[in-house]
Amino acid sequence: MSVSESVEFPEFPAGFFFGAATASYQIEGAYDQDGRGPSIWDTFCREPGRVADGATGDVACDHYHRYREDIALLRELGVDSYRFSIAWPRIQPAGSGPANSAGLDFYDRLVDELLASGISPAATLYHWDLPQALEDRGGWRVRETAERFAEYAGVVAARLGDRVDRWITLNEPFCSAFVGYAAGAHAPGAREGRGALAAAHHLLVGHGLAVRALRAAGTREVGITLNPDRLLPATDSPADTAAVRRVGTLHNDVWFEPLFAGRYPEHEAETWGELLPSGDGSYRLDGDLGLIGVPLDFVGINYYRPITVSDAPYRDADPATRTAVDVRAEETWRDDVRHTTMGWPVVPHTFTDLLVDLAERYPALPPLLITENGSAEADTRDADGRVRDVERVDYLRSHLEALATALRAGVDVRGYYVWSLLDNFEWARGYGQRFGIVRVDYDTQVRTPKDSYRWYQRLIAAHRART
Ligand code: NOJ
Repeated sequence: MSVSESVEFPEFPAGFFFGAATASYQIEGAYDQDGRGPSIWDTFCREPGRVADGATGDVACDHYHRYREDIALLRELGVDSYRFSIAWPRIQPAGSGPANSAGLDFYDRLVDELLASGISPAATLYHWDLPQALEDRGGWRVRETAERFAEYAGVVAARLGDRVDRWITLNEPFCSAFVGYAAGAHAPGAREGRGALAAAHHLLVGHGLAVRALRAAGTREVGITLNPDRLLPATDSPADTAAVRRVGTLHNDVWFEPLFAGRYPEHEAETWGELLPSGDGSYRLDGDLGLIGVPLDFVGINYYRPITVSDAPYRDADPATRTAVDVRAEETWRDDVRHTTMGWPVVPHTFTDLLVDLAERYPALPPLLITENGSAEADTRDADGRVRDVERVDYLRSHLEALATALRAGVDVRGYYVWSLLDNFEWARGYGQRFGIVRVDYDTQVRTPKDSYRWYQRLIAAHRART
């Protein structure tokens, strides 16, 4: 490594670790093998018009069959840890009852291969692939799903708890509740008001119950992954400031307040009014806040971009049909910065600001891990076969700089996972959005490490050499 290169890398304290992340439905494929049952994403992908180009996760990166090759890529990359997710419908094809041991065997092999490669396994229990059978009984709108989730957590921990170092109950429950049950853009594709708010609560209850089950099984570190947003008002008008407050309730406070401050969000009435639970119809039971706020070893943060918010009228004036994402606000496009192919603005300092702000607002916050950060870019393969993804290298470098700045400001962050190891199924956006530091050719399943992979590999090596 040259001297000029070593100064190019942001610096992190000794003990800080680096990893890469993926999720089951986005990479595994093998959707009907070894007893896997259908998930809400299998159903959603088959509904016309839901996913770009009618794409599905049926094959995806075929990781189910190629996991050894993918772990070899992780080993060569030099990461300390790999964050993957477990597909609930592989473990309990109908969402409850005894484990499907063939499904557990896959994760058993994966974990052993990671350990043999010197890589610490970090397992997410729920990265959005709910067994369809549970959705048929109400999905996250009903408390039963939270109870089934805890059962599933216990089943997985009984098999893998001795070897998985880090457990993440839920990934981005904001998306499960509000993109899935209110915006209708993710599975199960519902557009609801009260149902989506009930889903948010039951996801949190499911998290609390699952933490209990994991602790009972003697697991090591346990946490949750959230995706708080850095929200910026479009102008300094009082109306835009109030819009930021409402969007903040929807994106951030609904999760952080019950988890880390023991209360429901302060501005929930201003945000949701009639959609909130009340009287006999309330699904908030005595003791729920205590259950949800159970102590954690870490909180995972996924961060990609800021959102600029302005005041707007209700899209639907009728509370009977209004969805829970209709909070009288809209996102404003900004033309002063670069956007990734997702249409997301690149503003690295907002990453520092978000972390500093969270640490100030929640003194009881456990240590943070960045469980996802990365960018989708229009990668091309040059004639020599190389993918010179300069935009992604620039994104990663500037966001790791912003993270290092947050650490210097005193925020307790212990590690960073890049999203993602592989190009993969980007949910409703299909395969057109490429987040990988490794390119996947979906016709041949050939993996090609991009320039960003080599850059990240050198960053990790420089960190090790220095600390
Ligand atoms: C967050 C999600 O956890 C992940 O599944 C997704 O691919 C990335 N963001 C990028 O959108």
